[in-house]
Amino acid sequence: MREANARAVDNGGNPAPLLRVDKVSIDYKTPQRRVRATHEVSFDVLDAERYILLGPSGCGKSTLLKAVAGFIKPALGAIELDGKAVRGPGPDRIVVFQEFDQLPPWKTVLENVAFPLVASRRLGRREARERATHYLEKVGLSAFAQAYPHTLSGGMKQRVAIARALAMQPRILLMDEPFAALDALTRRRMQEELLALWDEVKFTLLFVTHSIEEALVVGSRVLLLSPHPGRVRAELNAHAYGMHSQGSAAFQSAVRRVHDLLFEPAAAPLARRAA
Ligand SMILES: Nc1ncnc2c1ncn2[C@@H]1O[C@H](COP(=O)(O)OP(=O)(O)O)[C@@H](O)[C@H]1O
Ligand SMILES: [Mg+2]
Repeated sequence: MREANARAVDNGGNPAPLLRVDKVSIDYKTPQRRVRATHEVSFDVLDAERYILLGPSGCGKSTLLKAVAGFIKPALGAIELDGKAVRGPGPDRIVVFQEFDQLPPWKTVLENVAFPLVASRRLGRREARERATHYLEKVGLSAFAQAYPHTLSGGMKQRVAIARALAMQPRILLMDEPFAALDALTRRRMQEELLALWDEVKFTLLFVTHSIEEALVVGSRVLLLSPHPGRVRAELNAHAYGMHSQGSAAFQSAVRRVHDLLFEPAAAPLARRAA
């Protein structure tokens, strides 16, 4: 994924975004009616960014992520990866979901991580096992390579899912509330591990959460979405916050400001500011 950093530079001297989401509106059609899930949402994700979609439940975060993954087609607007329109799912975008049952239970941990590499004909069996072993080590699960998913804790299953996704070396890793179903302590540890992994591998991350604290800790930039239908409220810079800042007075006041921005009754105009 290192080569990814030598990317095209546009005229402004800014790197061209890796992912461009432009005025995307997405509708669900039920037999009775049409539900607008997101309304004219725009954002760009740069190479090696940790970009967060933050908003209350039902604001369309999962819908947006599924559209980026290529599972849903927007009613209006455009989604481009590397300047090419997203038309369907592809190995350049891999999703890690919240649910712990995303691993086939009849495969060992190692087979789970190696399987997509073989199935997509990226690698032969032996190379796939080597790469899987490498990424299992990165998430601290070398000792569990031969274990079956049902013998693992929720946090360990999510580590396997992350290793499996990273082993595919996608252009962008998509995560939909991956830690939301974990207990608070495990969740914190997973956030810490994800950041350590990012420090090492520098993958590009698009991460969905409804937790303000998680958004500020995990993200480098955060897009705030209004309640249903999701519209952009603001975009914040969260570079200043990390695991170390949780609990500090500055962090707590940033959390309160984000909360007010998310829930203030009048829709705020698109603002770009530091949290
Ligand atoms: N398959 C579906 N059919 C109809 N409506 C849906 C469907 N999936 C989601 N929705 C609606 O779209 C909105 C956004 O959902 P979702 O993207 O899951 O929100 P979030 O992930 O932010 O909680 C919600 O109002 C939800 O009820
Ligand atoms: Mg969701």
